[in-house]
This record gives sequence, C-alpha cells and structure tokens, in this order.
Amino acid sequence: MKNCILFTTKHGSTEKASLLLKEKLNAETDIINLKDVKKPDISDYDTVILGASIYMGKIQKQRANLRS
Ligand SMILES: Cc1cc2nc3c(=O)[nH]c(=O)nc-3n(C[C@H](O)[C@H](O)[C@H](O)COP(=O)(O)O)c2cc1C
Repeated sequence: MKNCILFTTKHGSTEKASLLLKEKLNAETDIINLKDVKKPDISDYDTVILGASIYMGKIQKQRANLRS
C-alpha cells in the first residue's frame, strides 16, 4: 500500500498537516509540493490525497498536470 499526498500551501500550514497525516498513515507515503513538481507521476500510488488551503472561500490555485 503506497500513498501520495499532493499539496499546495501559502504559509506552510497545509505542509504541516500533510506531515502530520503521513505520521498517522500506516503505509509508505510520499509528500509532494505541487510548486516543486509540476507533473507528478501518480501511477505507482494506491491512494492519492490532495491538500490545499482556503482563502476567501476559494481553494488555493495551483494547477497540476498529473501523469498516471
Ligand atoms: C486572508 C485569509 C482568508 C482566509 N479565508 C478562509 C476561508 O474562506 N475559509 C477557510 O476555511 N479558511 C480561510 N482561511 C484560513 C486558511 O485557509 C488557513 O489558515 C490555512 O491553514 C492556511 O493554510 P496554508 O498556510 O497552507 O496556506 C483564511 C486565512 C486568511 C489569512
């Protein structure tokens, strides 16, 4: 079982939450900042989790071009 957490963050809270979630999951979990990896390859993962913060009622924009 292999997980992936894809996230965007403005001030770091979503990154901290991603790290906390990784600790709680009893499985191999990669964490990817979508600002660093524009085209993440998600084909190897059983579960993909998306994390992003909300500002003024809108989820943070960060386009991802996922390969699977
Ligand atoms: C100006 C501003 C607007 C916000 N608007 C919302 C909102 O509409 N809904 C919400 O649930 N949280 C809102 N928040 C809270 C942020 O989503 C929250 O602090 C989040 O953890 C920030 O994550 P980040 O540091 O990964 O960007 C707002 C925060 C700020 C500073």
